[in-house]
Amino acid sequence: MTPIQTPSIFAPVSTPAFAIRDLSFFVLAIMAAIFLIVAGIAIYTLIRFGRRPTNPQAEPAQVYGSTQIELAWTVVPLLIVVVLFLVTARYIYGIERRPQPPDALELTVVGHQWWWEIRYPKLGIVTANEIHVPVSDAANPAPTFITLESVDVAHSFWVPQLAGKMDVIPNKTNRVWIEPQQVGTYVGQCAEYCGLQHALMLLVVVVHPKDEFRKWVAAQQAAPAEVPTAREGRELFASLACINCHSVRGTPGNGVFGPDLTHLMSRSTLGAGAASNTPANLRAWVKDPSALKAGALMPGMKLDDAQLDQLLAYLVTLR
Ligand code: CUA
Repeated sequence: MTPIQTPSIFAPVSTPAFAIRDLSFFVLAIMAAIFLIVAGIAIYTLIRFGRRPTNPQAEPAQVYGSTQIELAWTVVPLLIVVVLFLVTARYIYGIERRPQPPDALELTVVGHQWWWEIRYPKLGIVTANEIHVPVSDAANPAPTFITLESVDVAHSFWVPQLAGKMDVIPNKTNRVWIEPQQVGTYVGQCAEYCGLQHALMLLVVVVHPKDEFRKWVAAQQAAPAEVPTAREGRELFASLACINCHSVRGTPGNGVFGPDLTHLMSRSTLGAGAASNTPANLRAWVKDPSALKAGALMPGMKLDDAQLDQLLAYLVTLR
């Protein structure tokens, strides 16, 4: 995986994020001007009208009521707010009115407590917590249009370097689009408090060169190879309640409550960023998910060590 970028709206790599950075600089410039003027007048007043050591009792001229000054401090801020409103509305409209090109990559991201389900409906891929997209360039734009849904509470989808924040609301469909112009791994995070593990609802977006993205798609579309040594573990998996919540393509497991495990080992973390996805962590996770992520909705299955070993031997083959 390419080095992970620090999430910052000031390091944009995608079209909507460029616009958001420009707008924030514009707002910051106006705020800086207001600060300099107000602080400047305050400092000038302190110095100019402060107590004089030569005549400590003297007071500066006392002014009561001034229509001109009151008009100025009403009208000027009003104009500033109108300008900020109009400029912001123009940026929002500019981002939202972009039509979806017919060949754009389509994604559905579903918020769950506390992980992200990632679906590529046209490609037949289902994964979790990791979005993979191709890089875009001016000659060959490759935007990705993302439909946002929630199965439980309100979440918010935010990858600061790629696009603005968008709420993920039950019974409502929202949309965002991204057009990353730099290969890399970008960190996102649920940005709406959604319960105990809101903080562990991480999201990464991996932007690939175009040919590498095609390879990722092919690997995800393939069924995981059946490894003979994993047979016992596979049968155990199919006999347990795992399959009520998890899917593995080509097995009886077709649950949709938890993440699709078909290519579990291709992902970098467990529990949406709770731990890195190593066999040791995976074993600890299956043994007792709440030890790694308190409140995780997956129950500990009370498996003994031999069962855990069998299950692990199978899960690590899901590449
Ligand atoms: Cu999901 Cu906060």
